[in-house]
Amino acid sequence: MENKLNYIKDLEGKIALVTGGTKGIGRAIAERLSEAGANVIVTARNTPEDAHPEHHFIAADVTKPADVAKLIEEIDAKLGGVDILIDNLGGLTTPGGGFSALTDEHWESELQLNLLSTIRLDKALLPKMIEKKSGVIIHISSVAGLQPLWNLNLAYAVAKSALNTYSKALASELAPQGIRVLTVSPGATKTPPMEKFIEDFAANLGVGVEEAMTQLMSATGGIPMGRMAEPEEVAELIAFLVSERAKYLTGSNYHINGGSLPVV
Ligand SMILES: NC(=O)c1ccc[n+]([C@@H]2O[C@H](COP(=O)([O-])OP(=O)(O)OC[C@H]3O[C@@H](n4cnc5c(N)ncnc54)[C@H](OP(=O)(O)O)[C@@H]3O)[C@@H](O)[C@H]2O)c1
Repeated sequence: MENKLNYIKDLEGKIALVTGGTKGIGRAIAERLSEAGANVIVTARNTPEDAHPEHHFIAADVTKPADVAKLIEEIDAKLGGVDILIDNLGGLTTPGGGFSALTDEHWESELQLNLLSTIRLDKALLPKMIEKKSGVIIHISSVAGLQPLWNLNLAYAVAKSALNTYSKALASELAPQGIRVLTVSPGATKTPPMEKFIEDFAANLGVGVEEAMTQLMSATGGIPMGRMAEPEEVAELIAFLVSERAKYLTGSNYHINGGSLPVV
């Protein structure tokens, strides 16, 4: 995104872990936290071809407990824990078509990717944060967790909704220990999987991408701002939430969706 803001280096000395930090929203978050001076670790399954020179990359499939154990071991050995955890991993990987299109395996995989892997990673990293009596955890949820579309994203929406509830409860438990826990729920954001989702949706409907986008927007009540978010816009909100400027914020779910959620 052009017209970069004049970043404040207010995360110097902080260590941040961003899951799924090599592409899309995760990459934008990792870059933004680096701009603010944080020492950033990113994790994903595949080593990126265009790795950020300042990011410390650790390969891990965060849905696999053994990979999470190795990830924590490496972080502890090299960096001694993290101050900021961005649980960004997630995505819509199951078919549309409502309840009858979803198998047990679909439900299990969607819950692993969007809920259980996050719970497992938090549990592994929290003891050190509790010891230090400080830390910030951000859970990347979705507008779908508040506004499920039965024919498009049922299992994904249910998993994100459960993530919202878990996040709220964890925030209440950890506030007395000096740890803040927040949720960020983006609406449609311009990333490769979102663009592919719209292309597939267009192919299913037998219409062009523009028309599919219009239909998708109207199915969700429309986006008053008339466009998707840029990943950098989501990252900007997160840079604020993890900073000391947001030190009284915990347990809230921040919606960033160009006005699309049609509720108060
Ligand atoms: N894009 C949207 O419109 C939108 C809207 C609302 C919410 N969200 C949420 O925002 C988050 C990021 O979405 P995105 O669209 O930016 O995704 P993305 O562009 O597909 O990026 C996903 C990242 O996660 C990594 N990843 C995938 N599976 C993994 C696994 N099992 N273990 C470790 N890393 C893994 C990917 O790298 P590898 O493939 O190399 O592993 C990549 O770095 C998700 O939680 C999503 O639900 C997105």
